[in-house]
Amino acid sequence: MEPSQSQSRPQRQPETSAAPSGIVILDFGGQYTQLIARRVREQDVFSEILPFRASWAEIAARRPAGIILSGGPSSVYDADAPRCAPEVFAGHVPVLGICYGLQLMVLSLGGKVKNADHREYGAARVRRLAPSPLLDAMGDEATVWMSHGDEALELPPGFQVIARSGHGGDGAIAAIAAPGRKLFAVQFHPEVRHTPNGSALLGSFLFAICGLRAEWTPRAFVERQLAQIRETVGANGHAICALSGGVDSTVAATLVHRAIGDRLTCVFVNNGVLRRNEFSQVQTRLRVALGLKLVAVDASQQFLAALAGVTDPEQKRKIIGRLFIEVFEAEADRLAAGRAKAEYLVQGTLYPDVIESVSVHGPSATIKSHHNVGGLPAAMRLKLIEPLRDLFKDEVRRVGADLGVPAELIQRQPFPGPGLAVRILGEVTAERVALLQAADAIALEEIRRAGLYEQLWQSFMVLLPVRTVGVMGDQRTYGHACVLRAVNSEDGMTADWARLPAELLAAISTRIVNEVPGLNRVVYDITSKPPGTIEWE
Ligand code: XMP
Repeated sequence: MEPSQSQSRPQRQPETSAAPSGIVILDFGGQYTQLIARRVREQDVFSEILPFRASWAEIAARRPAGIILSGGPSSVYDADAPRCAPEVFAGHVPVLGICYGLQLMVLSLGGKVKNADHREYGAARVRRLAPSPLLDAMGDEATVWMSHGDEALELPPGFQVIARSGHGGDGAIAAIAAPGRKLFAVQFHPEVRHTPNGSALLGSFLFAICGLRAEWTPRAFVERQLAQIRETVGANGHAICALSGGVDSTVAATLVHRAIGDRLTCVFVNNGVLRRNEFSQVQTRLRVALGLKLVAVDASQQFLAALAGVTDPEQKRKIIGRLFIEVFEAEADRLAAGRAKAEYLVQGTLYPDVIESVSVHGPSATIKSHHNVGGLPAAMRLKLIEPLRDLFKDEVRRVGADLGVPAELIQRQPFPGPGLAVRILGEVTAERVALLQAADAIALEEIRRAGLYEQLWQSFMVLLPVRTVGVMGDQRTYGHACVLRAVNSEDGMTADWARLPAELLAAISTRIVNEVPGLNRVVYDITSKPPGTIEWE
């Protein structure tokens, strides 16, 4: 999604309750930082990622019960090595350093770190050398995941080595503790699945050391959000929401609707590149199953006219993004004329979109411009309500379930804003949309029948601007080729192509070639991300 709209975003309100309530994770640029946040939240404890350079005032405003220092690619001896506020180590709250976090803790407090000449990478055994509540769940010896260059050599005063690597416990320092100073650190990565007891170790830090309780549940989240939305919008305010029928906007809208009822108007736009029957199906589901006040706008002709002759992927995305804003604005104006003038715009922004903009190296380079109504608030002077901006996708699904959103809506695979336009290579025409819709519907039907739809991150068809020779009956055919794409992923940032059963691939291919005139070849995409992306454009 578009990080460039952050200027119109409200700053996250710090928790106002007096009791410490969660974990602050300081991000030193490690590839696993988001995973740390997830592993903490999986134990029903709230966690928030802040950039390493956050001031102590910013950290303390969150009233964390503990702080975790992430790993990172730097060496503590680099000239521009990232450092955190010194107060972090002052004993205000317990701190757990992970990998780079351990090395930084050691160096900051007067110890020594060895500038290693080789990296230790992969599974390793570690042996406990002294009792510590941090390691209670790990037993005397455990397998862990290591990924580091530097290592601790001499510990600062008050610290003790509690684990070393190697069967005999004679290897590198793997875990240290200074309980009197509330400081703990591990050289390995408890947040990755390759450290089998890693979640348990994090749990020991959260519950035994920080004294937290497992209170970050979907129900508690919903209740807090309802109160916050009612307070923000007030007794008479109105809000508007662009609904796509996808999980995020549906759950966001349901939450706001629960808070302010029909003072929320949802707008669903047919951009001409939706999947087969989607425009009518989504309307029925949202109105009937969820009782949302929904305005459906069929602008498909307008979109297809604007896309005529366009083959460049970025241009397609920009055209759809711009037109979407125009259509949505016109609808908002129409509603305002009828007295329901909205001051608020509801968006289903998720946590990964928010943290991207505070990462150590700044927002990552734009590979594809994701429109996601990013330009709306600025253009319309609307204030944003983003009730899901603290959540990961799987948490949104849990919240949706708690709100009573039907499972078929919650389990929907992600679908890009520019829809089938980025799955039709070459020009987007009404005929080519219909061709792809037909093939896509068959693929999804077969994948559902095989019981695999919910396990896959995404599965869909792509239409190529390529014709190939075939034979059907006694006839030579010269039809279009299409691609089946199915991937597994945790968050869409990386993905692996799904090893679908051969019988399923055969069923999809046979049905498409037999049932969709004009298509005579189906190929399967076996590219992972990276180096590929999930969508073809
Ligand atoms: P890529 O193709 O970049 O996609 O690997 C990663 C995830 O993002 C989705 N995607 C989009 N979602 N608007 C969206 O809302 C977009 O413009 C867009 N482009 C890609 C894609 O479906 C996948 O889940």
